[in-house]
Amino acid sequence: CKIRIYKFNVMETNTTRVCTTKPIITVNGLFPGPTIFANEDDNVLVKVVNQVQYNVTIHWHGIKQIRSGWADGPAFVTQCPIQPGQSYVYNFTIMDQRGTLWWHAHIGWLRATVHGALVIQPKVGFPYPFPSPDNEVVIILAEWWKSDIEALISSAMKIGIVPQASDAYTINGQSGPVSYCYSEGGFSLSVEPGKKYMLRIINAALNEELFFKIAGHNLTIVEVDATYVKPFKTDTVFITPGQTTNAILEANLATGKYLMTASPFMAEPVPIDTLAATATVHYSGTESSVSTTLADIPPRNATPLATAFVNSLKSLNSEKYPAKVPLKIDHSLLFTIGLGINPCANCIHGTRLAAYFNNVSFIAPKIALLNAHFFNTSGVFTDDFPGNPIIPYNYTGIQPKNLRTMEGTRLYRLAFNSTVQLILQDTVMITPENHPIHLHGMNFFVVGKGLGNFDPEKDPDNFNLVDPVERNTVGVPSGGWVAIRFRADNPGVWFMHCHLESHTIVGLEMAFVVDNGQGPNQSVQPPPTDLPSC
Ligand code: C2O
Repeated sequence: CKIRIYKFNVMETNTTRVCTTKPIITVNGLFPGPTIFANEDDNVLVKVVNQVQYNVTIHWHGIKQIRSGWADGPAFVTQCPIQPGQSYVYNFTIMDQRGTLWWHAHIGWLRATVHGALVIQPKVGFPYPFPSPDNEVVIILAEWWKSDIEALISSAMKIGIVPQASDAYTINGQSGPVSYCYSEGGFSLSVEPGKKYMLRIINAALNEELFFKIAGHNLTIVEVDATYVKPFKTDTVFITPGQTTNAILEANLATGKYLMTASPFMAEPVPIDTLAATATVHYSGTESSVSTTLADIPPRNATPLATAFVNSLKSLNSEKYPAKVPLKIDHSLLFTIGLGINPCANCIHGTRLAAYFNNVSFIAPKIALLNAHFFNTSGVFTDDFPGNPIIPYNYTGIQPKNLRTMEGTRLYRLAFNSTVQLILQDTVMITPENHPIHLHGMNFFVVGKGLGNFDPEKDPDNFNLVDPVERNTVGVPSGGWVAIRFRADNPGVWFMHCHLESHTIVGLEMAFVVDNGQGPNQSVQPPPTDLPSC
């Protein structure tokens, strides 16, 4: 194993996209940011230097951070932010995972432009469990906002209405030839007939679940969230913010140009609509005068397409990569997910839009939770997060009782190596939206899902405990539930939140605290000396 050293200068960079030029926050001047390459077992050191006027942190999304929580990145959860003019070295070792992950800023909405790919090659002697591609390409799906995002957010938070739609979607930073800015060529992928390309697709959008497709081609899905899956063919990829998907594109045509699209999904059609981002797959030798074959863009509310994709995902569960699904459960939890107007007069944020797990809307503390946990500082958080709903829920109709939101910095405590089954139950309070829920520090298995209310008597009979997909971010269906299982084998404080920034910002967040174990290598390490202070 090697040491991989990177330097990230967080800076303001004038950038032209979608026919607009504006200063944006970048890493090393790039949008999307630089790709980090590493092998499984490598030690990665990234020195982040903050050269902007905002506080900054970087999160390595999906990296398990085994005993290295100080490098995880969410602001006020595992670290205080890196202040203007300061720097911090993120130091972590990639253990027991390989595939595509990504990194992004984890404070405010900076991740809109501060993000990039993290590519982990398997260790020597562990080839891909599928025919090796001839080439590998990172495909980052994201958004472009014409106005200044941080300014937009701070004014939006004052009035309590959160902006939803960006001005354009992007593929590798560009909205593309048939979108808003006709003169923008868009990202172009050149292919040779007969060759295989592994697309490492990342959904870095702030608020949109996306469909991805390439006209005239099927894709073979081989991995999600840096875990191998049983390969399957599809013409459409469905991907929520936070998720990553490796898909093999076989250039099995002789010639031509084919449109690649990223278009939004929402369970219900909404009045605001944004055009798909477009890019091109270009066969070598194709004349530039040849017109591009167009893709049919799925309708925004193509729920069956999204569902079919998600239902096809199964862990590879091979001898080398067994699915270690916990069978005996120590903590059986159910968290409702809600979004509503918070009528709470004494709340810090007053009456405004609030989002919550089990009616507790998360309030970020003044010092990082991991510091408070490690140094036993009292008064920063409590560990009384309710493991089950405190207010009855029903997924249908209006639920006035459920509007009783509380604010709190409440954590749920797990003993080292205990096992958890967690039902995430959507309650459709205001808008019928899916919630991509992301857990830091540990992967989970998605053992079940359904529509309506979870039925504790019947639904567990249908759980897949053999080869459920393993991931770090799962879409909880609108008006439905998912069941996940994980083993709390990583001591530390681990954030769990919706990966739609419009929901995160109003409190759809909580954290687990996983205690140290008794054995060697079962404790959080002491903080690095350059850890920022608040
Ligand atoms: Cu991708 Cu907590 O984040």
